[in-house]
Amino acid sequence: MKHDIGLTVNGVATSATVDSRTLLVHLLREQLGLTGTHVGCDSSNCGACTVLLDGEAVKSCTVLAAAADGASLVTVEGLGSEGDLSPVQEGFRQCHGLQCGYCTPGMLIAATSLLLDNPDPAEEEIRSGLEGNLCRCTGYQMIVESVRWAAEHGGAGAVAAAERDGARA
Ligand code: FES
Ligand code: FES
Repeated sequence: MKHDIGLTVNGVATSATVDSRTLLVHLLREQLGLTGTHVGCDSSNCGACTVLLDGEAVKSCTVLAAAADGASLVTVEGLGSEGDLSPVQEGFRQCHGLQCGYCTPGMLIAATSLLLDNPDPAEEEIRSGLEGNLCRCTGYQMIVESVRWAAEHGGAGAVAAAERDGARA
């Protein structure tokens, strides 16, 4: 069965026709061309597919696209832009928070969500906040340092804060 849905993605009103079984991550990647959101497992284990859905971090391989009808999404492409990185993106750049980069989009979104909830997290709180996101390059120490850098330089960032505020208004 097909569904016509409308949603906002990175601030842009978007419409799509999706199958009942289409996963949100596949809508993003294959129909909307937003390939920054990665698929690492398709079984809700790795977190590479994490996006903000109405201001909350979700693993987009666990959400049916049809269920996102009317929602507002932020993907890694929407966090910041070249020359205007979000604090979390800049933190990963400054502190070498990525190696191969496969986990990075999900890490960036999960870290952004963490900072929305807790603007000044201790190391253990960062580790526990990101435990749903796996890095096969195992650069966890640098990732923690990247998130601490972001906490000290603007936190979650304007896009994510506006998204969370809008969802709660
Ligand atoms: Fe979604 Fe791994 S692809 S959790
Ligand atoms: Fe390679 Fe995390 S940087 S999987």
